[in-house]
Amino acid sequence: MNAKMDLDIVELLIDEHEDIREKFREVRDAEPQARSGPFEALVERLASHEAAEEALVHRTMRAEAGTEDEAAVVGEILEEEASAERRLAAMAELDPSTDGFMSQLDELEQEVLAHAEHEERDEFPAIRRRLGSQRRHELAERFQRLRQAGPTRPHPETPQEPHVRAALGPIVGVFDRARDQVRETLSD
Ligand SMILES: [Fe+2]
Ligand SMILES: [Fe+2]
Repeated sequence: MNAKMDLDIVELLIDEHEDIREKFREVRDAEPQARSGPFEALVERLASHEAAEEALVHRTMRAEAGTEDEAAVVGEILEEEASAERRLAAMAELDPSTDGFMSQLDELEQEVLAHAEHEERDEFPAIRRRLGSQRRHELAERFQRLRQAGPTRPHPETPQEPHVRAALGPIVGVFDRARDQVRETLSD
């Protein structure tokens, strides 16, 4: 972690985008019966990444946007994140060992990677234009605090009955928990 202390927020987010690409590869490379574990790891990473971006980056850039185009980009990016979350929620119905799951995973991957490229192409340069080095490093420090806070805890509204949880799969509640954790950690 110390090696990353000099990075600014844009560099940290680009690192995480690479980690997300790798997690998609791990799901695809797993045997059909062994996809659940890597898929859960992917969902956890996506949820925590998007929750941290929403709290630290998109909110800041909405306030700091210097042009209508920059403000429009933030709106598009938030809608892309909501769309990926809806697609993931629909995937909770699918058995990860099936072809149907894999075709949804392909679509999700295209959507998520296009979203990451959109951020890298249109939002991250605006961060560098609008925020000085000190603020970019402050955001990076807060981002690192989120990462050091560890995995998300169960959300109080996630059903606890084992058969309900099994039927819903790992997805329902993960995004809510990630947002809760961002709020708790940043308000400490
Ligand atoms: Fe994002
Ligand atoms: Fe991102």
